[in-house]
Amino acid sequence: MFFSPEIYKNRRHKIIDNMPENSVLIIPSWPETKRSGDVDWPYRPSSDLYYFTGFEEANSCFLLLSKPQAQHILFTKPKNSEKERWTGPIHGPEQATDIFQMDTCYLSSDFANIAPEVLKNTNSIYYTFGINPLWDTYVNQLIQTLKNKKKISVSVHDTIHIIAPLRMKKSQEEINTIKKAVDISAQAHMEIMKYTQVGLSERQVHGKFLYEIMKRGAHSEAYPGIFASGSNACILHYIDNKCPLQNGDLLLVDAGAEYQYYSSDITRTFPINGKFSEIQKRLYKKVLEIQKSLIKILKPGISFKNIHDKMAESLSILMKEENLLEGSIKDIINKKKYKKYCAHSFGHLLGLDVHDITFSKTEDIVLKEDFILTIEPGLYLPPEDFSLKSELRGLGFRIEDNILITKTGAEILSHAVPKEVEEIENICLSSH
Ligand code: GLY
Ligand code: MN
Ligand code: MN
Repeated sequence: MFFSPEIYKNRRHKIIDNMPENSVLIIPSWPETKRSGDVDWPYRPSSDLYYFTGFEEANSCFLLLSKPQAQHILFTKPKNSEKERWTGPIHGPEQATDIFQMDTCYLSSDFANIAPEVLKNTNSIYYTFGINPLWDTYVNQLIQTLKNKKKISVSVHDTIHIIAPLRMKKSQEEINTIKKAVDISAQAHMEIMKYTQVGLSERQVHGKFLYEIMKRGAHSEAYPGIFASGSNACILHYIDNKCPLQNGDLLLVDAGAEYQYYSSDITRTFPINGKFSEIQKRLYKKVLEIQKSLIKILKPGISFKNIHDKMAESLSILMKEENLLEGSIKDIINKKKYKKYCAHSFGHLLGLDVHDITFSKTEDIVLKEDFILTIEPGLYLPPEDFSLKSELRGLGFRIEDNILITKTGAEILSHAVPKEVEEIENICLSSH
């Protein structure tokens, strides 16, 4: 738990105000996942559960009963001295009640017996299926038991509708933590720009990035880093990171630290030998102009659709100017032809998750003060696309910054990492 327990408790009080009476919010932990043999992937708490409790252990579940009961309940795994000898302390229900300021804690294994009694007055359940199959079974049983008892149906809703409004607007302590995550990543990006040279491999640069973020206090990356040289940049989520760095190619690095569970997500595209070629420079500058023009429109009241439309229009103009696509600009926009060379969206919210609070209708999101998001237009010209001139094939560009929405505009949190051509060439060549 990185903030004081009162902060998590206040979040619980806030969400109760958004819940109808006699409803319950149920948030399970992620299942632990096998990596190989008897080795698990390191466990990372589920963001929603952590957001409302500060609790970091696997095999847990949080229940929040709305008014009139207003009960805060945590289900946890039992203390077990033999296990604790191998993998460290477990709180157990008794300790957890005090430390996490819950009304009650129970053993997770008792959920099926306890929940129907505790929730006997419940009419609606907020629960997201598909996170943890074990808890899906428990909750399905619970719904059935409540229906049988009450002879009326219990309505079930996805948790996103009540959680999103809270998690989208960051508190001051969240903003400070994300700023720290971004600062760590920014420093690491600058270090790898100096470090990168012909003869190294993508993996060596990735290793250097990991070292630089961990040296500064990050626990891990926020997502598997993308270190894509040459035409690998056209694979949007390339994570093989295994190729040697070639003279004349660009390196697209999309990597960010996770600090105290908060994410950063920065992309820079720079020349491996320190100097952009003329074609690389021309296209890079055009993508950069689009990125800067999108950041310029950000302020409270602007919707995701507004940003999307501006990116679609600007990319379509670029693709027309460069003769990448046929037809009128209007046609390229309306038929979404620009997606051929930029298949992803302009960006996303950023927070405990790198793609924070994802739901299907993101276009409806309207920016407010204290939202944090990324802006990351790109242009990807696949090596196998023979409709392109040969000198364009295999070029890929993305430029991504992390942005805080302020009262009247936007603050670029990742501004320290160079993105102008001359600045990039200076830092890349500074150690050659
Ligand atoms: N790093 C994934 C993304 O930029 O969305
Ligand atoms: Mn990214
Ligand atoms: Mn991103």
